[in-house]
Amino acid sequence: MNSTAWTRWVSSNSPDGARLSLADAVKSATAELAAAGVPSPAVDAQLLAAHLLGVGRGELAAMLFGTAGAPAGYAELVHRRAAREPLQHITGVAYFRHLELRVGKGVFVPRPETESVVQLAVDVLLKLTQGRKECISTAVDLGTGSGAIAGSLAAEVPGCRVYAVELSDEAYPWAAGNLAGTGVELVHGDLRTAFPELDGTVDVVVSNPPYIPAGAIPREVEVRLHDPHMALYGGGADGLEMPTAAIAAAARLLRPGGYFVMEHAEVQAEQMAALFKEGGHWEAVTTHQDLTGRDRATSGLRR
Ligand SMILES: C[S@@+](CC[C@H](N)C(=O)[O-])C[C@H]1O[C@@H](n2cnc3c(N)ncnc32)[C@H](O)[C@@H]1O
Repeated sequence: MNSTAWTRWVSSNSPDGARLSLADAVKSATAELAAAGVPSPAVDAQLLAAHLLGVGRGELAAMLFGTAGAPAGYAELVHRRAAREPLQHITGVAYFRHLELRVGKGVFVPRPETESVVQLAVDVLLKLTQGRKECISTAVDLGTGSGAIAGSLAAEVPGCRVYAVELSDEAYPWAAGNLAGTGVELVHGDLRTAFPELDGTVDVVVSNPPYIPAGAIPREVEVRLHDPHMALYGGGADGLEMPTAAIAAAARLLRPGGYFVMEHAEVQAEQMAALFKEGGHWEAVTTHQDLTGRDRATSGLRR
């Protein structure tokens, strides 16, 4: 723990100046978050404390058995989380595969199911470069948001030239910050027309486009109130305008034999496979499950 963290740790958080123990504070926070309907109250209570203390969750678990006091400012963060502000907006960090991404207002918080989509692309890219003399491949991320997909490909696939596009004025600076120094070529623009210079040459295209139907209201308060509309709503009554546009962009960008994988909602799997099959640009169209067994992505090979 660094010195700032220690200073915070020894500070009292209780109104009467008595030092509230860390264990009691985390217990109360868990109850407050549970009452507010937060899906994982104990984990969030611990992560908020760990964030303020500057320690990992393992170290925090050990501290809960000791005599540590609650960190200053803990109650305020817990109240914010109880008001259903996303945990990642409060801590300013989202963990995605091997990355630690900065996130906040205006950018979509990356989700675990997208990690499985990235794995599909990483597997294809690694296999592809195995057979090549020079370990070089090209990949494009359509609608990069925080830069989660593009940043992962750049970090995990040696020699991969990664390109990413983001349209939102609010999300673009987050992507720019997260992708700085990664070698990813980021453009502020529309995925429908991005990277015309790469047409017909790309090995892998990945996208997690907006796909929620216009009339559907996300059940999770965090999503409804804090994820940007441009990241959620796919356009049209079925939400498929942007996914359809992403399929067209991938068909334009990929070389023959190139691989495209796109995330979608579970209920859209059949429609997505049908969209891929329309127009005759794709073969080996496959639906993929996330770690909970739900149909959350579709891929195809460019004919
Ligand atoms: C569901 S979010 C996914 C973000 C990120 N790829 C991830 O998986 O965490 C969709 C992203 O696409 C962006 N977007 C929406 N329409 C776009 C367009 N026409 N061109 C480029 N990006 C777009 C949104 O602003 C948002 O950042």
